[in-house]
Amino acid sequence: MEKKARTNYPINDLLVRRWSPRAFSSRIPGKEIVLSFFEAARWAPSCFNEQPWTFIYATKEDPEEFQTMLDCLVPGNVRWASEAPVLVIAVAAEKFASGRDNLWAWHDVGMAVENLILEATSKGLFAHPMAGFDGDKIKETYDIPEGYTPVTAIAIGYPGEASSLPEDLQEAEVAQRERKAVYEFTFRRTWGDNRGV
Ligand SMILES: Cc1cc2nc3c(=O)[nH]c(=O)nc-3n(C[C@H](O)[C@H](O)[C@H](O)COP(=O)(O)O)c2cc1C
Repeated sequence: MEKKARTNYPINDLLVRRWSPRAFSSRIPGKEIVLSFFEAARWAPSCFNEQPWTFIYATKEDPEEFQTMLDCLVPGNVRWASEAPVLVIAVAAEKFASGRDNLWAWHDVGMAVENLILEATSKGLFAHPMAGFDGDKIKETYDIPEGYTPVTAIAIGYPGEASSLPEDLQEAEVAQRERKAVYEFTFRRTWGDNRGV
């Protein structure tokens, strides 16, 4: 299903097409495709080029591995993410190699995740990020060392039909996407001044 952004100014088609569906087809992307998501993430910019991201992924090619990751999500996400063929967990390194706190780690993981999402979009898949996961369970399940924090989980797959979802999720799946207008978050001269934007 398509749910293109309605833009007031023309933007790249990839950005127009990206959205976060809950309905996925059962088709499992091949390994080359899955690894291309992480290749895209790899080339994100990062503060001091620290690349503070780590990804853990599971696909339905290994149902046990997939179930283990699915079990780390909150029940509200399990309901629909169980149908996606690929799950990813993005993890941030909290400190620079120097030992100083990396205050930009989450920012940089977010940039890498958006690269991943757009790469998936360019290949006809969609990726839905999730904050709804049990971080402690993820740390325990994957033996994540001190100093690393799970930031987001991502469900990825080819688009499915809204009708395949539980009934109460179908409405949101087809609802129009909403955004603030550009002038609401873009200022000139001083905070809050959007005259001329
Ligand atoms: C960090 C982050 C956490 C999110 N957590 C969830 C989540 O737990 N469950 C969910 O269904 N959607 C989640 N979303 C998806 C957002 O609801 C979605 O991106 C937003 O409504 C805008 O819709 P769009 O991505 O289709 O443009 C999350 C998105 C982000 C970026």
